[in-house]
Amino acid sequence: MAVTDLAAALAEANLSSPMLPENRGDPYGIYRFIREREPVHHAPDGSWVLTRYDHCAALLRDPRFSTNPARLTEGPDPAAMGPIRQVGSSLMMFLDPPDHTRLRSLVSQAFTPRMVESLRPRIHLLVDDLLDAVVETGEMDVLADLAYPLPTVVICELLGVPAEDRDKFKGWSADASRLLDGYLDKAAMDKGMVAGMYLFQYFTDLVEARRAEPRDDLLSALLAAEADGEHLTHAELLSTATLLFVAGFETTMNLVGNGILALLRNPAELARMRDDPVLVRTGVEELLRYDGPVHVTARIATEDVEIGGEIIREGEQAVAILGAANRDPDQFPDPDRLDVGRTPNRHLGFGGGPHFCLGAALARMEGQIAFDTMLRRLPGMELVTDAPTYRDHYVIRGLDELRIRFTAQPAPSRA
Ligand code: HEM
Repeated sequence: MAVTDLAAALAEANLSSPMLPENRGDPYGIYRFIREREPVHHAPDGSWVLTRYDHCAALLRDPRFSTNPARLTEGPDPAAMGPIRQVGSSLMMFLDPPDHTRLRSLVSQAFTPRMVESLRPRIHLLVDDLLDAVVETGEMDVLADLAYPLPTVVICELLGVPAEDRDKFKGWSADASRLLDGYLDKAAMDKGMVAGMYLFQYFTDLVEARRAEPRDDLLSALLAAEADGEHLTHAELLSTATLLFVAGFETTMNLVGNGILALLRNPAELARMRDDPVLVRTGVEELLRYDGPVHVTARIATEDVEIGGEIIREGEQAVAILGAANRDPDQFPDPDRLDVGRTPNRHLGFGGGPHFCLGAALARMEGQIAFDTMLRRLPGMELVTDAPTYRDHYVIRGLDELRIRFTAQPAPSRA
């Protein structure tokens, strides 16, 4: 898009919503435009939009900013912020220290690196099974056939949701995840709330079952977690189970979808990653930076704070455009180039500071295994068409579908 078109588009547009449907395919030109001209932008809705890496990174670490939506006194229309206000006061991502510190440390006792690592063989098996089902056809929808089922099955198994109940979760979780999006119409908000209720009810029953008879799963471990003589309250347990579920699958699914699209559009980088498996690790970090699943997060000032020469007043909202920060040339040389060997790569794809993604290790593992296995097992991968459409979601960036072709392989024997 030419700069003049951008200027016209931005003049009309609400700058706190750079992911307008027509811009979703490539919001990066708009991000660049905003970052170069007004890196701390006061949007018409009253919030402040940050697009520079150093500003976003500082915001996420600054204790003068809160994640609690109740602290908001100015900014977006309170009706539009409804879901965030309503989702319950015990969701970890909306708590500040010391409540956040206490809850997060209890959950971290259950959701340990050891528990995540123990899932590695199972994730390998799952990815192989999902690819076995399509290798013979020479064609797949990366999202429906792999990227969606993989994290869903992993998080269900991790939490201890029985296999026969998994299908129920499909619609609930898609609808409920929209509640993480601050800008919703009423219909989507209502659907999200209903889905949230179903998830809460489901987990209420499951928690009772595990309380009566603990098993080797995360829900039982959450029930057992204890620090300084304290346990998770019932409300915390339910909201944590729901949050892990919702936060864990939409994001990982889009890491795989956005990542495969980026690799197929950059075949030399795809070949590098396929030919040198060591690059899978740095490659996943680069895909999180280059076109990551979470583009936006927000904080509320608890006192007047200066950022980049502007004063964010107490009660005002600062929106960190992570997708813009991750393409800031002051932090990443040649930021619009995909470089699967990029080091250092201190991207903000998982956020930063006290709310840094709790599931990062699991997401990284799922991503590394999915990319590595696809690159090895599906030679000749190419896009069926390069005209992707994006889901209607402001915070999470992901494709509706991603159809690819590859050289058909004989189906493995399932003896
Ligand atoms: C590629 C996949 C993922 C991405 C890109 C991602 C991204 C993020 C980001 C950016 C945040 C910070 C939000 C903020 O500071 O406002 C976050 C927080 C969080 N994520 Fe993830 N996430 C991913 C996967 C997962 C998984 C697999 C789980 C769990 C199973 C998970 C659980 C959480 C939780 C519980 C928080 C809140 C942490 C807190 O408030 O202390 N995420 N994630």
